[in-house]
Amino acid sequence: MIRELSNPSVCMRDPQKVQEILESMVKAGSNTVQVISDFDMTLTRFAYNGKRCPTCHNILDNSDLISSECKEKLKELLNTYYPIEIDSSRSIEEKLPLMVEWWTKAHELLVQQEIRKDLLAGVVRTSDAMLREGYEVFFNRLRDHSIPLLIFSAGIGDILEEVIRQAEVFHSNVKVFSNYMDFDESGVLKAFKGELIHIYNKREGALLNTGHFQELRTRPNVLLLGDSLGDLTMADGVQDMENILKIGFLNDKVEERKPSYLDSYDIVLVKDETLEVPNAVLRYLT
Ligand code: TMP
Ligand code: MG
Repeated sequence: MIRELSNPSVCMRDPQKVQEILESMVKAGSNTVQVISDFDMTLTRFAYNGKRCPTCHNILDNSDLISSECKEKLKELLNTYYPIEIDSSRSIEEKLPLMVEWWTKAHELLVQQEIRKDLLAGVVRTSDAMLREGYEVFFNRLRDHSIPLLIFSAGIGDILEEVIRQAEVFHSNVKVFSNYMDFDESGVLKAFKGELIHIYNKREGALLNTGHFQELRTRPNVLLLGDSLGDLTMADGVQDMENILKIGFLNDKVEERKPSYLDSYDIVLVKDETLEVPNAVLRYLT
C-alpha cells in the first residue's frame, strides 16, 4: 500500500494492524488528522557521517556561552545519565527519578552561566544541529494541508524554535510544548518556566495543556512520532481519540531495545536518519 513500508529500516510487529489504522485514517480524511512529534533524535538526526548530532541541550552545552568548567560538569551528567536513559534492563519507574535528577542538575548548571537571550540565535546558527533528511517535505506538507503539528519536547523550547526558524519551517500550524527559558529584564537566563518536562512525564505535560487538545477535538486521528518509550504518552491529552499510528525511531542500542519498541510502536524505524517513512504516510493520508 505504501511502498516505503518495505524499506529495510522498517520493522512492524503487526503490519495488518498498521494497514487497518491507515485505511481508517484515510477514510476519515486529512482534516481529522493531527501530528504529535518529539523533537530531539526524532525530528533531528541522531548521527551524520558517523558523528552524533546534538540535542537542544547539547547545542547550548557545546557553545561558547558555557564556561569550560561547566562544560565538564554537563558532560559528566550526560555520561552518567544517557546510558540510563537507553538502558533496556531498567524499568521506566526505576529511571524516572534519575531522569528528573539529570534535568534538574543540568538546568541548575545552565542557569548559573548567565546565558544571554540575544546570543541564542548565533549559537544555533554555528551549531551542528541537523533536522532529518526530508524535513522540508514533512513541515511543508503539513502546512499545505493545514494539519496541526505539535512538537512536544523535553529539550529547550527557545533552542528548538530557533532550529526550526532558521530552517524556515516554523510555520503557523506548528505549536511547541517544551522547557522555555525565563530571562530577567536585561535578557539574562534566570530560571526555566513552568513545570519541568523530562522524557518520562510527557503524559502530565499533555494533561496540563487541555486547552490545546480541546481546540483540536475535531481531529481524533493522530500520527505520533518519537524515539523514546516516554514519547508514547505525548498523545494522552487527545480528546475522543479514534486512531493513532505510532512511528518510533530506534537510533541506539538497537538489538537490546528492539523487542520493547516493536511492542509499543506500530512502525519502528531502525537506524533510519530520514523522514522518508513519515512523509510517505503523510502523502498517503493527504
Ligand atoms: P526530546 O524530548 O526532544 O527528545 O528531548 C529530550 C532529550 O534531551 C533526551 O534524549 C536527553 C537529552 N538531554 C541532553 O542531551 N542533555 C541534557 O542535559 C538533558 C537534561 C537532556
Ligand atoms: Mg527524543
